[in-house]
Amino acid sequence: MKKESIYKQVESEIYAVCGGENNKIANMASISCLLNQAFNDFYWVGFYIVDHDKKDELVVGPYQGTLGCLRISYDRGVCGAAARTGLTQIVDDVDKFSGHIACDNLTKSEIVVPVYNEENLLIAVFDVDSIKTSTFDAVDQLWLEKILKAIFAET
Ligand code: SME
Repeated sequence: MKKESIYKQVESEIYAVCGGENNKIANMASISCLLNQAFNDFYWVGFYIVDHDKKDELVVGPYQGTLGCLRISYDRGVCGAAARTGLTQIVDDVDKFSGHIACDNLTKSEIVVPVYNEENLLIAVFDVDSIKTSTFDAVDQLWLEKILKAIFAET
């Protein structure tokens, strides 16, 4: 099946499950689960949450996959770059990204999408890692940004 069709299908599943739920952790857990089930190439799927007790630091949230790092500061890794810039990061080859954090050596490419709340404040980043290079493109960016916005910024 084409990527677009899978996103379309999983989008309606996510809205059906999370549409009536306001708890962010419950929604993060459900989104990680549904996207992980939907795509074979998604090896690690999950959220790093902005830790308001620390300056410029993310702490691991709900995820599916192998053990992730617990904390990532904004000056490190692809997740840090997404949090710092507020922009989605697509990395085709993590070995060429200076400062990439290798929580799992199998990871080869990734996409990290900033997650905003209703007040347009950054609350987390959503990280998807693949064991193949060049897995993610503008199609993933479009759908993931749309789904995350609908669940966390528009409910
Ligand atoms: N991919 C991240 C690190 C987190 S994990 O791989 C789960 C990064 O370089 O930001």
